[in-house]
Amino acid sequence: MSLTAREVSAADTVPLRRDILRAGSPLAVFPGDHDAFHLGVYDGLALVGCGNIRLDPAPWAPDVPAWRIRGMATATSHRGQGVGTLVLEGLLARCRSAPPLPGEVVLWCNARTPAQPFYERAGFLTRGQSWVDPEIGPHIVMWRSVGGVTTGAGTHC
Ligand SMILES: CC(C)(COP(=O)(O)OP(=O)(O)OC[C@H]1O[C@@H](n2cnc3c(N)ncnc32)[C@H](O)[C@@H]1OP(=O)(O)O)[C@@H](O)C(=O)NCCC(=O)NCCS
Repeated sequence: MSLTAREVSAADTVPLRRDILRAGSPLAVFPGDHDAFHLGVYDGLALVGCGNIRLDPAPWAPDVPAWRIRGMATATSHRGQGVGTLVLEGLLARCRSAPPLPGEVVLWCNARTPAQPFYERAGFLTRGQSWVDPEIGPHIVMWRSVGGVTTGAGTHC
C-alpha cells in the first residue's frame, strides 16, 4: 500500500462519500462543497479517503470565524490503516497555512458518535449533548484548537 495525499475537487470525492456517508444517495453533494478545500488520499490510483474544510462559524460562536470539517470518509477496505489520520493532518495543515483568523482558531465538526474515538485521538473534545439525525444516526459536536492539541481530551465542555 502506497498512500499519497493531495487536494482534489468536490466531484472527485462524490463516489466515495456516496458509498460511505450516504448509502448510495445523491445527497453526497453537500451544501458548501464549492467553497471548501477538499483533500483526498490515494492508494495508487484509487481514492480511499477524503475530507474537507471550509470557513463556517461554530454553532456556539456564530460571529467568530472557524473551520468546519465535513465529509470524512475512508473506504471500508482501508479502515484502521491511518488514512483518516492522513486526511485530518492535511486539513489541519491547510488551516494553519491559510490567512490568519483572529483569536483562538477552532476546527469543529458534527461527528458521528462511532467516529468519536477517532477524533478524540486527534485531540478533539466533545461539546454539548449528542443528538440523532433521523437519516444518519447519532452525532455530537467535536472541536479542537487549530493551534495545538486541546488539553483534557475526552471531557465534555
Ligand atoms: C472515521 C473514519 C473516517 C476513520 O478513518 P480511518 O482511515 O479508519 O482512520 P485511521 O486509520 O487513521 O484511524 C482509525 C483507527 O485505526 C487505528 N490505526 C491507525 N493507523 C493504524 C495502523 N497503521 N495500523 C493499525 N491501526 C491503525 C487508530 O488507532 C484508530 O483507532 P481509533 O479510531 O479507535 O482511535 C472511518 O472510520 C470512516 O470512514 N467511517 C465511516 C464514516 C464516518 O463515520 N465518517 C466520519 C463522519 S463524522
